[in-house]
Amino acid sequence: MKTALYRRYGGPEVLELGELPRPAPSTDEVLVKVEATSINPIDWKRGSGKLRLLMPAFLPLVPGYDVSGTVVEAGGRASEFPPGTKVHARISDSRGGASAEFALVSLDVLTRMPDGMSFADAAALPLAGMTALQGLRDTLGLPLKNATQRVLVVGASGGVGHFAVQLAASTGAHVIGVCSARNVELVRSLGAKEVVDYAKADALTGLAPVDLVFDCVSGDASPYLPLIKAGGRYASPVITPGLLARQVLNPLAKVKELMVMLKPTAADLGVLDRLWKSGQLKVVIDSTFPLTRIAEAWAKSIGGRAVGKIVVEVAQSQPSST
Ligand SMILES: NC(=O)c1ccc[n+]([C@@H]2O[C@H](COP(=O)([O-])OP(=O)(O)OC[C@H]3O[C@@H](n4cnc5c(N)ncnc54)[C@H](OP(=O)(O)O)[C@@H]3O)[C@@H](O)[C@H]2O)c1
Repeated sequence: MKTALYRRYGGPEVLELGELPRPAPSTDEVLVKVEATSINPIDWKRGSGKLRLLMPAFLPLVPGYDVSGTVVEAGGRASEFPPGTKVHARISDSRGGASAEFALVSLDVLTRMPDGMSFADAAALPLAGMTALQGLRDTLGLPLKNATQRVLVVGASGGVGHFAVQLAASTGAHVIGVCSARNVELVRSLGAKEVVDYAKADALTGLAPVDLVFDCVSGDASPYLPLIKAGGRYASPVITPGLLARQVLNPLAKVKELMVMLKPTAADLGVLDRLWKSGQLKVVIDSTFPLTRIAEAWAKSIGGRAVGKIVVEVAQSQPSST
């Protein structure tokens, strides 16, 4: 099968197009003909080699955690997903990622695509959407019991952040988005009641106290701690040694500082799919690249200014092979 892969660690320049054998599903897996994948920072962070001790990879590695496509072969226990079923998932890439003609997906993370959802949206939603959902619900405890909860979302226009704004707003929270001036209208349209331009020197001055901060940019709570009410929480999916240390060493602090680590599940993707179906969650797509230009898609993500998600169309990039 045709695939993108890297044989050594580095930047986008290490990505190449190649051929690998088409994998076969085990009993608890399906083989998906991939329509689309999307870029997440973990793709290029892992590709850089800096995470090799935490996430060892067997090279060559096919990148891409998010997948949408059609089942072509179902393992023995996957009868619920017969060939022809349109599915999406945040996959484990232990046996290869989604930047390839075919990808293996295990049943514990596999969900049928809702009717009417495009393959692009279906590939953009899983990893970033579930991180926002689990960060807000499981780490920050949304919805809170009081009705006047104020939630600050930092990085409100990014892949995780634009889902977080919508998910927090859907609980009835008063959402304050932090983004740059060019994204203010978008973030407002996603449900933020207030929007703060981070480029302004006094950006946070004058904001009323908040209950929760969900920081998709830095993993450093210090600029936000003066704003957070006693008993409030700060959470970030940007894992830094400092955040890890404060989570472990400071469990009794007035404001808890917590890490968000995604645990992909079919159930949580189903929650997002239902919100999408009911019109409470939309997917913002920054740009779309064919698989042949995946290095450009990585470079765009590394630039750190994507608005929503960067999608890679896999199926349209090449004629199919076996
Ligand atoms: N721990 C986990 O399980 C997990 C899961 C998912 C993601 N993550 C991590 O979470 C982070 C966010 O991921 P992502 O996919 O959302 O990244 P992303 O889409 O690349 O984020 C880009 C966005 O960040 C915004 N931004 C940059 N600097 C900012 C600042 N100072 N203040 C506010 N916004 C700023 C940009 O807005 P402007 O263009 O307006 O600057 C852009 O919209 C990454 O570090 C990723 O690795 C971790």
